[in-house]
Amino acid sequence: MPAAAHPHPETLYLQIADRIAQSIRAGTLTRGKRIPSVRELAGQQGVSPSTVVQAYRALEDARLIEARPRSGYFVAARSTRLPEPEPSLPPARSMPVDVSSLGEQVMRLAMDPDYVSFGAACPSGELFAQERVRRAVSRAAQRHRTSLTRYPLGPGNESLRRAIARHALGMGCQLDARDVLVTNGCLESISLCLRAVTQPGDVVALESPTYFGFLEILESMNLRALEIPTHPRTGISLDALQLAFDTQPVKAVLAVPTLSNPMGSCLPLADRRRLAQMLSQKGIPLIEDVLYNDLAEQDDKRRAVKSFDTTGHVMICGSFSKTVAPGIRLGWVEAGRWAPQVRRLKAVHAGSHTELLELAMADLLTQPGNGSQYRQLRATIAARVDEARGLISESFPRGTRVTDPAGGFILWVELPGGLDSMALYRACLDERICIAPGTMFSATDRYRHCIRLGVGGRWDDAQRAGLRRIGAIARGLIQEAA
Ligand SMILES: Cc1ncc(COP(=O)(O)O)c(C=O)c1O
Repeated sequence: MPAAAHPHPETLYLQIADRIAQSIRAGTLTRGKRIPSVRELAGQQGVSPSTVVQAYRALEDARLIEARPRSGYFVAARSTRLPEPEPSLPPARSMPVDVSSLGEQVMRLAMDPDYVSFGAACPSGELFAQERVRRAVSRAAQRHRTSLTRYPLGPGNESLRRAIARHALGMGCQLDARDVLVTNGCLESISLCLRAVTQPGDVVALESPTYFGFLEILESMNLRALEIPTHPRTGISLDALQLAFDTQPVKAVLAVPTLSNPMGSCLPLADRRRLAQMLSQKGIPLIEDVLYNDLAEQDDKRRAVKSFDTTGHVMICGSFSKTVAPGIRLGWVEAGRWAPQVRRLKAVHAGSHTELLELAMADLLTQPGNGSQYRQLRATIAARVDEARGLISESFPRGTRVTDPAGGFILWVELPGGLDSMALYRACLDERICIAPGTMFSATDRYRHCIRLGVGGRWDDAQRAGLRRIGAIARGLIQEAA
């Protein structure tokens, strides 16, 4: 480790700590590796042992290193050991939904290039094989010369539907391509499913907190949200859901069993099987969002509830917005026993899509090397999430809790000290930083002390500094309140 160029006595220990932290995050110092003793480092850097002790204390506080009795200092096994958020406990009654105005504002600012953005769950372009996507689109234009001058009708291009059915095998689902309907993204699939199985005023059960896009759809359709207690790691509580089935007029369940948004929870395999059984016993449909399944780190977490469905009660909805090409906003749905209604609604309300893009997507899905591309995407995102958690543990107020998702690029942060996420949101906006306040993710007012941070977008020093700054602003707000 090279010596500091211009050491300043008061910040010297911080500079030393910072350099070591950077080496840990860059992977130069790997987890479990021994780092120099206090005396060794003091000698190497030409500083006093007490400066090194201060630096090591700061690194211990950030949970980046740990002292082992009589052995010295080591890089911590996991770079950050922040406690996870508490399981949620929403009220056991359904609510009308009113979140859309805040959601709209956050999304507009999250996409504004003048803001350092953690507000959206949108991966940035460089995470994707952009050249491969461009080539697939131009190949489709070359090969299928009439596709732009033909009216596209029906359930979607057949080669794409076949490619989707093959893709679903990776989630353990044997779908008949004839039952797959192509849509303009996962959200459209979900809207169509909700229209098929509900009427205004009906109750829909969801994870709590839940993706605000779902709440916006419920709001627009005048549906009531019944939020179900959810664990940050293991997802929706099936016991609570069963109780809801037994006591409330639940018309549908809308859930993301793999890498839910915003908590990143994944339902255990046994619960997926149990959920499929519960649905068929009660005759209640599950609208299963599998948008993130390909981003899950383990195979069993990629398996869909649909793979256990023997009675057609699971309506599975997916898309390629987070894994292949967000710009080709194509999704799909296999709606089980409600397939005819969904197909009809699609024809009436949503029309069709650009066949050229369908053909390009079919080409992309059938090219060899998709598996390794997903693996690479998962690894890139995992390193980034790890780094972001490290920055949070260093700079956010003591008592902060954060999720440790098994994939994906969304972190859910519980703030301590009664901190109001709307106050934090506004203070961050003053500094051109965008975060998503917790209130967006519930029809109840439960998550005022939480924020969602999306780290899939641009990732550079400005983002890192932005993340640290959010922590500093949060600390300042807590101090002010005290
Ligand atoms: C859980 C979930 N479902 C659906 C969507 C939207 O998917 P699409 O772009 O395919 O409509 C998002 C986007 O963030 C999401 O997080």
